[in-house]
Amino acid sequence: MNPIKVGLLGIGTVGSGVYNVLNRNQSVIKARAGRGIEIAVVADRDVERARSLVDASTEVVADAFELVQRPDIDIVIELIGGYTVAKDLVMQAIENGKHVVTANKALLAVHGTEIFAAAQRKGVMVAFEAAVAGGIPIIKALREGLTANRIEWIAGIINGTTNFILSEMRDKGLDFDVVLKEAQRLGYAEADPTFDIEGVDAAHKVALMSAIAFGVDVQFDKAYIEGITQLGAADIRYAERLGYRIKLLGITRRTAQGVELRVHPTLVPAKRLIANVEGAMNAVVVNGDAVGTTLYYGKGAGSEPTASAVIADLVDVTRMHTSDPANRVPHLAFQHDAMQTDLAILPMDEVVTSYYLRLRVSDEPGVLARIATILSDLGISIDAMRQAESDQVGGEETNQTDLVILTHECQEASMNQALAAMQALPSVLQPIVRIRKEELN
Ligand code: NDP
Ligand code: HSE
Repeated sequence: MNPIKVGLLGIGTVGSGVYNVLNRNQSVIKARAGRGIEIAVVADRDVERARSLVDASTEVVADAFELVQRPDIDIVIELIGGYTVAKDLVMQAIENGKHVVTANKALLAVHGTEIFAAAQRKGVMVAFEAAVAGGIPIIKALREGLTANRIEWIAGIINGTTNFILSEMRDKGLDFDVVLKEAQRLGYAEADPTFDIEGVDAAHKVALMSAIAFGVDVQFDKAYIEGITQLGAADIRYAERLGYRIKLLGITRRTAQGVELRVHPTLVPAKRLIANVEGAMNAVVVNGDAVGTTLYYGKGAGSEPTASAVIADLVDVTRMHTSDPANRVPHLAFQHDAMQTDLAILPMDEVVTSYYLRLRVSDEPGVLARIATILSDLGISIDAMRQAESDQVGGEETNQTDLVILTHECQEASMNQALAAMQALPSVLQPIVRIRKEELN
């Protein structure tokens, strides 16, 4: 059989990895796919650089829009990134009857519903394994490997940059700004790392996993997002002493009221495997009713790890290219007409979780009692509490101290009320630090 013809849009970090791995492993990939997979055309803005990266037999063009029109191309790989040009190219590829493989989580998180609907109408596949956790085959696991299960919850370290920053802050006791500079120097963080450190990249990815797990639309716009920019070294230290590590987690959970969808720094018990995922690595924990808890670990970014996922999609699409569209694995795991339209994403106020609180207080009689009363009046139960000795500055007592409280579970709305009331106490001297806590058991 002739090789299936692929057009590659963007030969940057991931695109060049895809080209190289496909070339290097072509015989084993062909044996698995059932036919050859040939990147026939590459489109990139920098044609000269692109030519230097490919064989003479691969055509290079500057105009990506020309590529998606070509009748000889069966599959388009979009590796340009962003929401604008990439969206137009993906939509045009679909309209022209091409299957699409993409690593673009931002595009699918924001425009996924429109893109998947268009693909459904045209009977083509949109595959996106590389969009979540890079080289880890988590989409395949959720969509196929765990298909027997009612998924209960997913919690993932799905941004390598922030995990690297948190690991370094903990190991070396460094402050956020110092480690961010190091992450940029090492090439983990983007030149503009806002999406990483503000939790947006992780929210893109957890919105995709949530859709597949629960059969709902991709609803990035309803996710609660909090990044790591406000985290201080002191909280990482206190968490450690209490037997926890702080990780930026993407969490989605099915509850009787709806689906939780959130990204925020989280205290995780240090004994959990996921708490020990360090550096730029990614890990995702999935809990299903039949299988129990499963863990997926690996590189969430990088040229060849991400290419591994893109090529897995290419092989899947090649295998299923000639099959009846109604008998393919659905884009979001559930059949198009069986999506859960009545399952809402919960507002953050309705989420139930437990908390770490740190209050900078005057070390004087009655402070603790007033704080405990506020919490108890709102039905919030204290799980553990620690008070450090009064700080000294230049040998003098400051009469200030850190009060660290772990709570049992309560509704976020109650905690917000408690925080407002505690913050108003004259003896609470600085903004209260609140970090959510998950036992993940
Ligand atoms: P790069 O910036 O390295 O590569 C993008 C390439 O596309 C560049 O060569 C760029 O050219 C080219 N390009 C930009 N605009 C156009 C255009 N209009 N027409 C043709 N070519 C164009 O990005 P990455 O490879 O890092 O990322 C690609 C996608 O993969 C993104 O969606 C990203 O989020 C995703 N991803 C990346 C991972 C990684 O580890 N890097 C991991 C997981 C997902 P120029 O350089 O001139 O701008
Ligand atoms: N910026 C992302 C990260 C790249 O740090 O994980 C992979 O999506």
